[in-house]
Amino acid sequence: MKTRAVYPGTFDPVTNGHVDLIERSAKLFDNLVVAILKNTEKVPLFSIEERVEMLEVAVRRLKNVSVTTFDGLLVDLAERCGASVIVRGIRAVSDYEYELQMALMNRRLSKVETVFMMPAEAYSYLSSRLVKEISLLGGSVRGLVPPLVEKRLRSKYTGPKA
Ligand code: PNS
Repeated sequence: MKTRAVYPGTFDPVTNGHVDLIERSAKLFDNLVVAILKNTEKVPLFSIEERVEMLEVAVRRLKNVSVTTFDGLLVDLAERCGASVIVRGIRAVSDYEYELQMALMNRRLSKVETVFMMPAEAYSYLSSRLVKEISLLGGSVRGLVPPLVEKRLRSKYTGPKA
């Protein structure tokens, strides 16, 4: 039986930590759907179209990975796309409490299992929030995000000609 997993998130923007986790998950599962949440409580820096484009380019070479968007409950999306597993990344102990709460709630709502994965150590301190802050303040995010994301961040904060 083939196993499809869904990897949900805001991806505002996708980082190399996310890409690392996608690569690892794509090896474990037959099929991986990366699902971008459209409407978050936080106002995203990048529109949903921009986030889709950056992710699609970042995972283009991985043939069993697709990118989609969703609104509403994650477990409903998992059911709609036939996924039996939710993949979430855990970087440090501080992530665990929130992730455990979500995983147990999702289990109460459905039969979908949550699988926690660790990114490479090099990305264990990386987050979309820090990447945005560094870019805003003029620092370099080279090596922390895919090249297209680096370019898009630069033009967000300094204009398209930078
Ligand atoms: O990358 P993020 O922002 O940590 O991702 C959070 C996400 C998208 C996984 C979470 O907010 C989510 O699943 N939202 C969909 C709404 C939902 O199902 N809420 C109940 C969770 S128990």
